[in-house]
Amino acid sequence: MRKKIVAGNWKMNKTWEEARILTAEVMGMVADEVTRPVEVILCTPFVYLSSVKSQLGNSRVKVGAQNCSEHDAGAYTGEISAGMLQSMGVPYVIIGHSERRQYFAENNKTLAVKTDKALASGLTPIFCCGEPLEIRENGTHEALVKQQVEEGLFHLSADAIQKVVIAYEPVWAIGTGKTATSQQAQEMHAVIRRHIAAKYGQMVADSISILYGGSVKADNAKELFACPDVDGGLVGGASLKSREFVEIVKAC
Ligand code: PGA
Repeated sequence: MRKKIVAGNWKMNKTWEEARILTAEVMGMVADEVTRPVEVILCTPFVYLSSVKSQLGNSRVKVGAQNCSEHDAGAYTGEISAGMLQSMGVPYVIIGHSERRQYFAENNKTLAVKTDKALASGLTPIFCCGEPLEIRENGTHEALVKQQVEEGLFHLSADAIQKVVIAYEPVWAIGTGKTATSQQAQEMHAVIRRHIAAKYGQMVADSISILYGGSVKADNAKELFACPDVDGGLVGGASLKSREFVEIVKAC
């Protein structure tokens, strides 16, 4: 069975004090209310990873980073390597979020390298793909997302790709309040899974968790997560409020 995962992507939000409060609330509610085997991840800003991780202690909630460098070490001011994250015991890292692609010019080629670095350090990459609005409107979204997955991940061995979590996040749904319908989400998740199956075989494709991201809220999560190829969510805005986020986790 594929792992069910709900990851909160805090992006560049919260002061340290607010981060501590949010962590404490999520940790408490997850312990008290979540009975199903869902992996819960908080992808915090780099500077909070260490303190959030120690605050979480033995909780089932895990931490993740929002990015890592494509380099191992050296003169790259401001960058954080996968090895550094590993040395701090961070298990997850988001790779290729659309905001990184859009504002920091990350392309499939760099993202393939970042994925390699994450895997080489024993981290689980949460690899993001998804089309902008104009691509959805001109009907080439399937081709674009297949290309993102292909160029970012298809150099991996069958063994390695099974260690990756994929997040399908249509750019037009991120932070806009405009969620993909469950039918649109299921269609694209199935496209991605079929594409992986064509290259690696059905068994490999069936073992990979594919998360949906883009305006996931407590009131639409259940319907999205009920889709057969949707294995959870990558949640931005709604992960900044503990009650809302935990309700999403409970819908999974
Ligand atoms: P959103 O963000 O939930 O605020 O739309 C999702 C994401 O960017 O991962």
